[in-house]
Amino acid sequence: MSKFAELYIDGNTYKLPIIEGTEEERGLDISKLRAETGLITLDIGFKNTGSTKSEITFLDGEKGILRYRGYPIEQLAEQSSFLEVAYLLIYGHLPARAEYEKMVSEIKKEWLVHEDIKTILTGFPADAHPMGVLSSLVTAQTAFFPESLDPYRSADKVNKTIMRLMAKMPTMVAWSYTRSKGRLSNYPNNNLGYVENFLSMMFATKAETYDADPVIVDAMDKVFILHADHEQNCSTSTVRVVGSSHASLYASVAAGVNALWGPLHGGANQKVIEMLNEILVNGGDLTKYIDKAKNPDDPFRLMGFGHRVYKNFDPRAQILKKSADKVFERLGVDDPMLEIAKKLEEVALKDEYFVERKLYPNVDFYSGIIMKTIGIPIEMFPVMFSIGRLPGWIAQWKEMRENHEPIGRPRQIYNGAKKRDYVLMDKR
Ligand code: SDX
Repeated sequence: MSKFAELYIDGNTYKLPIIEGTEEERGLDISKLRAETGLITLDIGFKNTGSTKSEITFLDGEKGILRYRGYPIEQLAEQSSFLEVAYLLIYGHLPARAEYEKMVSEIKKEWLVHEDIKTILTGFPADAHPMGVLSSLVTAQTAFFPESLDPYRSADKVNKTIMRLMAKMPTMVAWSYTRSKGRLSNYPNNNLGYVENFLSMMFATKAETYDADPVIVDAMDKVFILHADHEQNCSTSTVRVVGSSHASLYASVAAGVNALWGPLHGGANQKVIEMLNEILVNGGDLTKYIDKAKNPDDPFRLMGFGHRVYKNFDPRAQILKKSADKVFERLGVDDPMLEIAKKLEEVALKDEYFVERKLYPNVDFYSGIIMKTIGIPIEMFPVMFSIGRLPGWIAQWKEMRENHEPIGRPRQIYNGAKKRDYVLMDKR
């Protein structure tokens, strides 16, 4: 295979190195292109542009492959736990028991949050969108831990910041939820595991404890595992670019939360349920919504369908679809929404428009149905995605900083007004 590409411009030939990754992905290294040719490349939405080299996650959109640090997602979803996957993503290897137990104990020491978080929460209207509250609370951590602002701290201190964020994110989410319901905050319980503790802080009340059904804990753990990382998606690229200015981990992750909030990205799981609900209340007429999604003049899209990279199937959607069946069976739930979702998938995958554009259910299509069954309120779905994606954001930020990557600063092609002189207002 060629090691170089030749570019012929205005009578000159330039050689550009071709680099290859461990999974035989190949890329054109254009880092010297402008210096040698005076040209830049243009790729709006970075659909064909690599922003970095990474050892964290590999995905193959054609083959529907997703691996965290080389481990297939199917095996991790089946045999691992969210905290173990978080350790794998952040530190690069599956933890030995002592390493795992040390992380769990560090997290339990840190999962309490400052009581002043409640003061910040009461500053929000009760119906504020939870993603706006979450990004504010994550940023606020810089005030409670100002040492996190020092970009040149030792690895141990960075690790403390990492453990604090992994520990406090679920508590801040639970406190914002109970506050939005006018309920008192629940405190972390060191006798519970990470997911059980989160569910208990969300749903326990002063009147009764919340003893999570193991099926629900397992399903939520799986949802978090499947959301944990996804290479250079919109929110992760945001975390890396913000972090490349040497902004703190908290500031970078808060930016990631805001990027994930968009309905085309992590906000899609909330939109999927709203869409399925609308179809249900309108008599279940799928054709009407399929036709709307296909109409170029209609901004409506089939939420939970399509993906920038996966062009055959999203392996996460397949695992979640099976998990949804299991949760429904064990909880004896018979929600017509799952049937509508399966029928929608069936009809869409036979429709030329979707087949031609290779639009398949993505991770958001079934995750919302599981979370709805567990009792997570729809407006909290993107926040659940944030808790799941947190270890991925942390791992990618850490890799970018450890590799001393330069500040992210893309170029542009200017096509605005040519030079013109100022005109006094009375002469315009
Ligand atoms: C996530 O990148 C990641 O890894 C993201 C993620 C992660 O883990 O981080 O996987 C999580 O964000 C999943 C995606 C969640 N979003 C949605 O479900 C929203 C609905 N889907 C889309 O809007 C869309 O498919 C995207 C945003 C996911 C991908 O958009 P692309 O790659 O920019 O593709 P495109 O918009 O250029 O679409 C190509 C064609 C267009 O039609 P034509 O102009 O060629 O005629 O496909 C059409 C689009 O109109 N199309 C859809 C569609 N998605 C794409 N038409 C109807 N319904 C859809 N859902």
